[in-house]
Amino acid sequence: MDRIRIVGGTPLKGTITIGGAKNAALALMPACLLTEETLALSNLPHLVDITTMANLLAQHGVMMALNGNATNGGHTGRVLELTAAAIGNTTAPYDLVRKMRASVLVLGPLLARCGEARVSLPGGCAIGTRPVDLHLKALEQMGARIELDGGYIIASAPGRLKGAHIIFPQITVGGTENILMAATLAEGETVIANAAREPEVTDLAECLVAMGARIDGIGTGTLKIQGVERLHGAEYSVVPDRIETGTYAVAAAITRGDIELVGARFDLMESVNKVLMECGVHVEETPRGMRVRADKGDINGVDIMTEPYPGFPTDMQAQLMALMSTAHGASMITETIFENRFMHVPEMTRMGARINVHGSSAIVRGAPKLSGAQVMATDLRASVSLVLAALAADGETIVNRVYHLDRGYERVEEKLAACGAKIERLKDGVAE
Ligand code: EPZ
Repeated sequence: MDRIRIVGGTPLKGTITIGGAKNAALALMPACLLTEETLALSNLPHLVDITTMANLLAQHGVMMALNGNATNGGHTGRVLELTAAAIGNTTAPYDLVRKMRASVLVLGPLLARCGEARVSLPGGCAIGTRPVDLHLKALEQMGARIELDGGYIIASAPGRLKGAHIIFPQITVGGTENILMAATLAEGETVIANAAREPEVTDLAECLVAMGARIDGIGTGTLKIQGVERLHGAEYSVVPDRIETGTYAVAAAITRGDIELVGARFDLMESVNKVLMECGVHVEETPRGMRVRADKGDINGVDIMTEPYPGFPTDMQAQLMALMSTAHGASMITETIFENRFMHVPEMTRMGARINVHGSSAIVRGAPKLSGAQVMATDLRASVSLVLAALAADGETIVNRVYHLDRGYERVEEKLAACGAKIERLKDGVAE
């Protein structure tokens, strides 16, 4: 099991290239099921989760080809062509779905295209129970018959799904994406009220329009979809990853360094940049993306509350907690999206962070210095927050179970080492 070894204390300076958004790609890829023509996706990140989604789609009968020349080691420059000419299997099996919850995003497209689907319930994960009840209720409103049997969602829609007026009682990114895809081929108009406005949802909507879907209100909380008979193929480039951008912005801030994030979409970073600037970090847009500097002055504690987009993203909460652990003064961090997203706290505490959790809030008192330690990654964003804390800590840190990291961050040690970080991956305990 790979581990990552870090010796902290070096201010990071240089450039980091931002890849395509994992959470956009995981919705764009199943969209290929909606047409028998080819969907060509570029700027896909090279991540374990992307491979898992590709494996899932392949067992549904999707033909895939990766073309183009890779540049700087990743998938940048590569184009993944996905063609669901015929869907031979409408079951998404437990052994694939349990590895990645986003697998549930094949449900809407399979129902819309084939009129049936058998998808394993994703089950919970480290950060919460994460049910899919809102997805299922909305599909039933569109005329689907849904049963739960043996841990599987058994869904059927004889004839065709019908447009409906869906009001989500709480904002759900995956729920919005599943219904959005299903509605593109449904009969009549579907309205999704209280829809998620995350940029990854917008990316999916824009790709579906490129495939011939009729969608109004893109980027707003109310999406209107006029169902069409069929969709056609398209070429689409995945939006840059705003969470990867925010993560490396914190790497610059926590090491008091100066990094340019090339390819970053500055306009998608408003809530994160507002918090960073309140802390005393200097953030500015550049022609290539954005520059983050913290090599002058102190970092101060600020209060943060996670909210649906355009609020402060829950996927950045652990990373900001690492930064606040090294700030001057106190910070109150409130997690409003998931019920158990403080798994990084005990591990950061072992590095000398002073954090007290009270329900969905954590009080962080900045420490003059963190110290390196052996720590355990528990989920994707928690694991990268430990890497960030280690970059600022005195001495050596070993982060265990880095497979969590590889699900969402492409070549993280290479990108950080290129900016001066003392970081290496230990394959089964031996430096690569
Ligand atoms: C997406 O998860 C992201 N994953 C998550 O990123 C992200 O944290 C989350 O949106 C919130 O922004 C992908 O896009 C692949 P939700 P999703 O449905 O769609 C509850 C990462 O680190 N809920 O918006 O699963 C749910 O339990 C990952 O990259 C229901 O109760 O999130 C949660 O508390 C982690 N019933 C809240 O809503 C439902 O039917 C938000 O969930 C659906 C959701």
